[in-house]
Amino acid sequence: MVNVGIIGCGYWGAKHVRIFNTLPDARLTIVCDQDKEKLNQVREQYPYVARTSDYRDLFSDSVDALVIATPVSTHYNFAREALLHGKHVLAEKPLTASNKEAVELVKLAKKQNRVLMVGHTFIYHPAVDYLRQLIQSGELGEILYIDTARLNLGLIRPDVNVIWDLAPHDISIILYILDKEPISVRASGAAHFDPTVHDVAYLELKFDKEVLAHIHVSWLDPCKVRRVTIVGSRKMAVYNDISDSEKIRIYDKGINIPTDNDNFAGWPPRYRFGDVLIPFISNAEPLKMEGSEFVRCVIEGKNPKSDGWAGLRVVNILETAQRSLMNGGGHQKLRTLLPDSVPVSATPGGR
Ligand SMILES: NC(=O)c1ccc[n+]([C@@H]2O[C@H](COP(=O)([O-])OP(=O)(O)OC[C@H]3O[C@@H](n4cnc5c(N)ncnc54)[C@H](O)[C@@H]3O)[C@@H](O)[C@H]2O)c1
Repeated sequence: MVNVGIIGCGYWGAKHVRIFNTLPDARLTIVCDQDKEKLNQVREQYPYVARTSDYRDLFSDSVDALVIATPVSTHYNFAREALLHGKHVLAEKPLTASNKEAVELVKLAKKQNRVLMVGHTFIYHPAVDYLRQLIQSGELGEILYIDTARLNLGLIRPDVNVIWDLAPHDISIILYILDKEPISVRASGAAHFDPTVHDVAYLELKFDKEVLAHIHVSWLDPCKVRRVTIVGSRKMAVYNDISDSEKIRIYDKGINIPTDNDNFAGWPPRYRFGDVLIPFISNAEPLKMEGSEFVRCVIEGKNPKSDGWAGLRVVNILETAQRSLMNGGGHQKLRTLLPDSVPVSATPGGR
């Protein structure tokens, strides 16, 4: 049984509170929020869970593992202190507000022999696992490009721009399904509501072999869109997270693309229109899968698939995208991470 404490019981933290109350191998012992009203809401539903407004109470011996669901700018300090107190940590996305902080946490977790996990919730989504298998099995053919859109009206964040808030989802999905590292990234965007905070942005990640991934994120859109389109040389797939029963559609469509040797001999192009497959996707709740993975890794001393290293890779891309955004939108090469890196595993030691 893993004793869990949660810091931050706001919009997302409240969901963690619900999940950790249902996991068979976890016991939610204490929650912390500086807002008394949030604590009262927890008391109403879970009167047996202790409450505090002082996060240091979560470093007591009665807590093995901490979930951090506070604003991004606070993740690093909470995670660092928790690791120094020997706690396992699940920090919400993005892991930290800078590369430097993420590198420090990854190294610290390794030194302390503790699990450091980041809340890349979508990689625990059965639909995203399905996409990964689809790509890795070669069914889509060679991947030509990926296009994602994560749009809605709000929720505007006080401490980060739309890239840091929404793009971690798409970046983590893309890295997971492609299982590749991008070479460079560029970003452009605009700040309409608050001139210092971008509320709409377009990112472009360049991978080897000319594979492109394009990410559109916005807090200023009339429609809620959560879509990933993958275009392969044989088939194409669309993951629409808004749909309840048809999350993924696989289109047997394409163009016979001329090769270098064809010298445009393939002209005019031949289009292919085939069937559309809508596979069954389990409706398992991703946040529950994520919570279970955290508890399992703590118990078994294993490394979660969204470990600190995965969190660092995403933060590295965010920071590089931010640099591009501030410098005219040109491509910026991604910095090499930890030279003595990988795999940073939390070897046995979980309590
Ligand atoms: N994985 C996902 O899909 C997902 C979705 C939404 C949000 N998030 C992440 O969750 C985190 C929280 O987002 P949110 O939407 O719940 O924000 P929120 O503002 O609704 O909640 C944050 C809570 O933290 C509390 N808090 C802030 N500083 C504190 C401190 N020093 N001590 C104790 N409590 C403190 C606030 O009072 C608030 O209740 C962010 O990192 C966000 O990126 C993740």
